[in-house]
Amino acid sequence: LLVQRQNYRSPDFAIDTVELEIFLRPQDTEVRSRLTLQRLNPSAKDLLLDGEGLELLSLSLDGKDLSSDRHSREAGKLRVKDVPEHFVLESRVRIQPEANTALSGLYYADEVFLTQCEAEGFRRITWFLDRPDVLARFTVTLHAPKVSCPILLSNGNCVATGDADNGWHWARWEDPFPKPCYLFAAVGGSFHVARDRYRTGSGREIGLELYVAERDRDACEQALQSLQKAMAWDEKVYGREYDLDRYLIVATDSFNMGAMENKGLNIFNSKYVLASPETATDADYQGIESVIAHEYFHNWTGNRVTLRDWFQLSLKEGLTVFRDQEFSADMNSRGVQRIGDVRRLRAAQFAEDASALAHPVRPESYKEINNFYTATVYEKGAEVIRMMHTLLGVEGFRAGTDLYFQRHDGQAVRIEELLDALATGSGRDLSGFLRWYSQAGTPRLKADGHFAAQSGRYHLRLQQHTPVTPGQEEKLPVPIPVRLAFFHEDGTPARLPDGQEETVLLLEEASGEWTFGPFAKPVLPSLLRGFSAPVLLERGDAEAADCFLAQHDDDPFNRWDSLQRLAQKTLLASIANPGRSVLGPELQAAFAAALSRPLDDPAFSAELLSLPTEESIGQQMDPIDVDGIHTQREALRRALGDTFAEDWRRLYHDLAAPYRRDGRAMGSRRLRNLALYYAMSSAQAEETQGWAERQYRSADNMTDRLAALQLLAFSPDYDAMPLLNDFYQRWQSHPLIIDRWFSLQLGRAVPETLQRAQELLQHPAFSWRVPNRVRAVLSAFAANLPVFHARDGSGYHFYGEQIRHLDDLNPQTAARLATVFSRWSRYDEAHQRQMRTVMEELLGKDRLSRDLGEILERSLGGS
Ligand code: ARG
Ligand code: ZN
Repeated sequence: LLVQRQNYRSPDFAIDTVELEIFLRPQDTEVRSRLTLQRLNPSAKDLLLDGEGLELLSLSLDGKDLSSDRHSREAGKLRVKDVPEHFVLESRVRIQPEANTALSGLYYADEVFLTQCEAEGFRRITWFLDRPDVLARFTVTLHAPKVSCPILLSNGNCVATGDADNGWHWARWEDPFPKPCYLFAAVGGSFHVARDRYRTGSGREIGLELYVAERDRDACEQALQSLQKAMAWDEKVYGREYDLDRYLIVATDSFNMGAMENKGLNIFNSKYVLASPETATDADYQGIESVIAHEYFHNWTGNRVTLRDWFQLSLKEGLTVFRDQEFSADMNSRGVQRIGDVRRLRAAQFAEDASALAHPVRPESYKEINNFYTATVYEKGAEVIRMMHTLLGVEGFRAGTDLYFQRHDGQAVRIEELLDALATGSGRDLSGFLRWYSQAGTPRLKADGHFAAQSGRYHLRLQQHTPVTPGQEEKLPVPIPVRLAFFHEDGTPARLPDGQEETVLLLEEASGEWTFGPFAKPVLPSLLRGFSAPVLLERGDAEAADCFLAQHDDDPFNRWDSLQRLAQKTLLASIANPGRSVLGPELQAAFAAALSRPLDDPAFSAELLSLPTEESIGQQMDPIDVDGIHTQREALRRALGDTFAEDWRRLYHDLAAPYRRDGRAMGSRRLRNLALYYAMSSAQAEETQGWAERQYRSADNMTDRLAALQLLAFSPDYDAMPLLNDFYQRWQSHPLIIDRWFSLQLGRAVPETLQRAQELLQHPAFSWRVPNRVRAVLSAFAANLPVFHARDGSGYHFYGEQIRHLDDLNPQTAARLATVFSRWSRYDEAHQRQMRTVMEELLGKDRLSRDLGEILERSLGGS
């Protein structure tokens, strides 16, 4: 049951070609498969194929039916005994797409047939060697009724179509690129198709096609534009062109994750496809740009070069996240992009590293691989790539990736192959980086330095240490690149003797010392600029440095981070000592500085002026005091609302503008809505609630409408029901917006919110079969920290009961939602006990899925 990395064995058989004939019926789909196989391991007598929930109708070898003594079924496998060297295996199986609520394999939702095969969904469609290192050439023929399924899609090229006499038709697709079965996709249904084109650098015309529901025909522009930009960027930055004549994307409301990079036929959660100004927020637009790019970039990092085994998942995900982050940085503001990426990294991955689920970027074992599509594999994996990029520089890194594609195109490889190509291509030793892949936990980086007035030199000492994580007692040093620059006391940058303003150190041992200068005047360093390594930085001179850098650093990330640390420090002090005033002079000065020129870069100003989230404050506490955090953060919001009341008022009124969708306009909306956030918490709350009501009613875009509604709905003393009802009436035919409507009602930090959550689960628009909708209620509920962590355990109990129910329908989503409990040890004993009780009760449930079982066991500290 436990799969271990060290037990990898290469496949006994190769599958050269696959021919599938699929007859699509919601309750009774027949899948006929014809595999040509070849023995690779001379000592393998039997062929063992993967399959799950398949009803076997017939099986033949080289055209002859196999008698029952020639094959047998064992846990999840079909054994075909005594097979020859080369042979053809044909099977027919029956599956039930409509009953497939797990949304893995072939499923039927919203009257459409769809597939999701990563990681191990293909075995729910037909018997196969369901592992990423078996690459086969696919030919797929889909059959379906012409009226209900006019459109039939699969990977590659459509090579033939035809009509049958019973009102059915068929389409045959051939993928010229051998691929692992996790990249297989098939779609059947009725869609609107939005088309565009892209011309590659070498002059090939690619047809871009977006398949969406009829009602969404006007919401396709952003996705198509993002795709064109991503295609051009990958040519320019990595020299990678697209390789088929068509690029197809299908949108669905019923999807477990964000999207899937199936070869030539991506399938997307509609959240990352559909947008119009009236229906999507600025953040939604950016999410589309980044996920469209992410899936597109997988065509080279994932598809053309794929994985040897699932332990290598970060080989494609870490690298592809890094690529999509850099793409977004090039398309938008680099500084703001980096701040957002680090915010997400810390919120999800640092939290994971500090939880019972801590694991290395390349895990050593798993029970259910779907549980490892984590922030560690994705986001920390991207940071590891970024560190190497920082060391190699743009050109060295490009030389490395060129070599990687040249060597490994068409292969299934390991992380070692990437590191070796980067090292050989750039001529730099990267072997130390493998430890980032094997060691869990967030390293602590301690920095102590001083300026020696006599010599004019700055002495810096760095030390690293990684705390133990479950199952990994011994921690060794990892290579940590530290980007740094120096500033004079007046805030001007100090050049290093070589004339550079910035340099990169590499700390490879447990500690290291450096000397810089001489400088003519005293200097203070800005360390870990751009967050050059995924570590927790502890500066000996934090007090002075944060105040100074929050005002003077010209690295946007470090300036933002310094201000956040000031706010964190203030908040932690007032949580420990609730009597004192929450807004100290330092933070006030830093806010005043940020507010002195807020319009230079409105999006960056909005980042600077945002308070640390409740989650991020909790990460600094032991144990986490949920109520203290909420109370003091609201108090700080109010103090800032009052102290800078005139600034908020001015910003709010000056930034009003008709809708446009360029970067500047988006930044202005964000800053304006932040001004409203503070203004609504000031002494003038009643007046400013009026601003929000008016904004809600008169907004010409969803960003402003939703921001106003959210601020009102989250106010404990405001009855937002009339507006919420209005919102529902307006948008009830837009599932993605109704998801927001569900979430909006769960943000008030009052006990009644639990009851509201219970009611929402009974609402006619709620559905257990649609993961977006389930998350709209349950994730929003868990994000309301005072309510979720209610002292009496009612929040945990409610949440646990919903996971119990969901696990019978959709184990992947249930397991993912259950991960919030893995952080139990960070709370006080009473909370710990209640969280553990809920998990233990869930462990005892009937038909516990492997997905949920593994998360619970690991969370509770078992195997
Ligand atoms: N490879 C996809 C992506 O990174 C994620 C698919 C994960 N699906 C799953 N069931 N684990 O975009
Ligand atoms: Zn991915």
